[in-house]
Amino acid sequence: MVLHGTSSVNAAGHLEIGGVDTVELAKQFGTPLYVYDVALIQQRAQQFLQVFAEEGLQAQVAYASKAFSSIAIIQLVDQLGLSLDVVSGGELYTAIQAGFPPERIHFHGNNKSPAEMEYAIQAGVGCFVADNFYEIAWLKRLSEQYKQSINLLLRITPGVEAHTHEYISTGQEDSKFGFDLVSGQATAAIEQVLQSSNLQLLGVHSHIGSQIFDPAGFIQAIQKIYLHLEQWEGQFGRRFPVLNVGGGFGIRYVEGDRPIPVEQHVHAIIITIREETTKRGWPMPEIWIEPGRSLVGDAGTTLYTIGSMKHVPGMHRYVAVDGGMTDNIRPALYHAQYEGVLANRMRDRAEQAFAIAGKCCETGDMLIWDLPLPQPEHGDLLAVFCTGAYGYAMASNYNRLPRPAIVFVENSEAQLVVERESYADLIRHDRPYSSSKKNPIHQP
Ligand code: LLP
Repeated sequence: MVLHGTSSVNAAGHLEIGGVDTVELAKQFGTPLYVYDVALIQQRAQQFLQVFAEEGLQAQVAYASKAFSSIAIIQLVDQLGLSLDVVSGGELYTAIQAGFPPERIHFHGNNKSPAEMEYAIQAGVGCFVADNFYEIAWLKRLSEQYKQSINLLLRITPGVEAHTHEYISTGQEDSKFGFDLVSGQATAAIEQVLQSSNLQLLGVHSHIGSQIFDPAGFIQAIQKIYLHLEQWEGQFGRRFPVLNVGGGFGIRYVEGDRPIPVEQHVHAIIITIREETTKRGWPMPEIWIEPGRSLVGDAGTTLYTIGSMKHVPGMHRYVAVDGGMTDNIRPALYHAQYEGVLANRMRDRAEQAFAIAGKCCETGDMLIWDLPLPQPEHGDLLAVFCTGAYGYAMASNYNRLPRPAIVFVENSEAQLVVERESYADLIRHDRPYSSSKKNPIHQP
């Protein structure tokens, strides 16, 4: 078991994160509870920024806020000097409410509604990542209506398959995202954008997938993109100042995962772009990347209280916790694997494997199938690691479970940044039913 970031075991034998005892956190804020190690997020951001700084390159590291969006995380990301990727009106609204500078926001999404695009223009977002012809037509119309020039990148699908779960692989041609290169749609899109004097084409964007361990996919995608950039230069007489290669840098969830350090991914990207530009005698573009998981994933830990237990003789020993697929859908959706510990008994030796069950009425609501633990007792605190990305972001109220609270910990202090939902929150938007007078059932 490898502890992440500032996590350690204190004198009481409890798991501590950011210098704060997790047992105290559970007492103070209740469970389930998402705990974020702020120092680890800072460290990850620095790792990305430093490579570009050392290479003396113009770059933007845009945090993909779909991984975890809340006012506090966006404020932290702003302080760290990152840019921000949003994919919906809701993520944009959160960023604006957090006071994030709109000019450093990039607006993504494969089906931005006209209302979302209008909102983004009014908010002054720095760049749209245009995904389809419908969006280009709308952006043209809105730029004329608002008499405003709009920066955009075109999202292209480079035809590269990242070796990852098929649901989170996005670079292949047969995908709902972006313009594909082979059929000529990307070329047609460039032509359309260049026809409008209000649309400023900064360059292209590609995102090949998520939880990627091998830089080969990035290298291949960049090489393909440059072949087309060269073709477009010949055809349109234009070179573009920006190249956005997306996010997807993998993290270590469990012992068997072997991600390469993020610096190595970034170096591979830089080296490939340098080769491709040098070959053509072009200047280096401004490089944009969009890490989500690799900035916040291993900084997040979920604390649960253990409740019921059940041993099926000769089969699994089930241990149920007070959350589950509602706060972490990833095991059910992607067969994602996690590690965990009894946070209040860190010195006790693991005796055997236990199957960690959620509390939802679904057989598939299992968080971990074979977690080695000391014999758990009712009331023990289970910490599940690496839940910082796509945990809270994908949380639901299934079975009408209130969503957990979130605390940030750093320098031995805890800060509540998202309150736990109450039962009242669950019915906040509900309205009573009154039977229709026209309903024959109610007529005498
Ligand atoms: N940029 C674009 C255009 C993306 O679509 C994504 C993720 C990212 C950046 C950030 O990728 P990251 O660095 O976080 O891997 N819910 C799935 C992941 C879906 C990723 C969707 N796009 C999961 O829980 O694994």
